[in-house]
Amino acid sequence: LGHNLYHFGQVESTQEIVHEMAKQGKPHGTVVIADEQVKGKGRMARTWNSPKGKGIWMSVLLRPNLPPMQAPQLTLLAATVLAKVIADNSDLNPQIKWPNDLLVNHKKVSGILTEMQAEQDSIQYIVLGMGINVNQDKSDIPEDILYKASSLKIESAEEWSIQHTIQEILRRFEDSYERYERLGFGAIKKDWEHFGYRIGEEVTISTMRKTWEAILVGIEPDGALRARSKDGEEEKLYSAEIHWGE
Ligand code: BTN
Repeated sequence: LGHNLYHFGQVESTQEIVHEMAKQGKPHGTVVIADEQVKGKGRMARTWNSPKGKGIWMSVLLRPNLPPMQAPQLTLLAATVLAKVIADNSDLNPQIKWPNDLLVNHKKVSGILTEMQAEQDSIQYIVLGMGINVNQDKSDIPEDILYKASSLKIESAEEWSIQHTIQEILRRFEDSYERYERLGFGAIKKDWEHFGYRIGEEVTISTMRKTWEAILVGIEPDGALRARSKDGEEEKLYSAEIHWGE
């Protein structure tokens, strides 16, 4: 991972660059990093603020030998990697809000965007994007999201080395990916649960179809979220949004 690494100054979005590279046949493990994105992409067609030199804006090209159903596991894998890097390099307690948000002190510091190109039963490629708010000060974060978004610097009261943090992420990612390929998601599950946010607690869950109150039970061997509603019924979820306290 990262043997093929491209570093840009300003780009629209590292996701789009890696999609292009994938189509040109670039290999598994190609990494694109930018100092700044002017059209950073978040999940659900949201935008992702990516100010210059303040964070890690990075996309990785993966060509896994997996059925498309299992692609979401790679999101969980990436979240685990980021949580470990943060925990190992600070006193912070990162937590993963299923499926892919990284929180510190209940505020989002990082998000993951996994985009898959699949054909019938096989994955052509995956672009796994990671955005980490590293050295933003409060004044760098849009006021309307200050209550729910933060940066590693704000939470730890220290400036972080972006360069070093990127290296740590790539190193850990390579390790975890290798373990995942050998042993499957079971190898990651425990780590994920260690950082899992609100497991065992009551939250509000919404999907395209409905919104309901439930307890987060944990994740399944395949990476799905298991939730128990008040009437005791359990469900496996592959895609949903989790809220609390509203
Ligand atoms: C989310 O909505 O939480 C996911 C955010 C993902 C942002 C990263 S930054 C690097 C990569 N390039 C993008 O345009 N988006 C992802």
